Amino acid sequence: MIERLNHVAIATPDVAAAAALYRGALGATVSEPQDLPAHGVRVVFVTLANTKVELLEPLGDKSPIAAFLEKNPAGGLHHVCYEVSDIGAATARLVAEGARVLGDGTPRIGAHGKPVVFIHPKDIGGVLTELEEI
Ligand code: CO
Repeated sequence: MIERLNHVAIATPDVAAAAALYRGALGATVSEPQDLPAHGVRVVFVTLANTKVELLEPLGDKSPIAAFLEKNPAGGLHHVCYEVSDIGAATARLVAEGARVLGDGTPRIGAHGKPVVFIHPKDIGGVLTELEEI
């Protein structure tokens, strides 16, 4: 059901500092910061040969990563995102297995303009998990 790893998302209190770390110490290809106000984040994309890393800083006072950074002030792994070909079927399968889908349970348009859902971390091994329809 899940296919490729689309991205790993890392929350950080300072996306410019995180970008400098990935560009410098890790020698990665790093984008300029982009503000995604509809998603409450400022993001830097780190492009790897086989996947992406997204460095996320809260944007605005209703950012979905604000609570995470309160608990983890230095930042840390926020979520992983797997690609699926049919998000409706994937969501139904997870719900049938007892997993909770965040929000109203239906896909919404994510940061890449594709339908996404997030699975409650307590129901999937302790890691917030995003599914994106490709
Ligand atoms: Co994501």
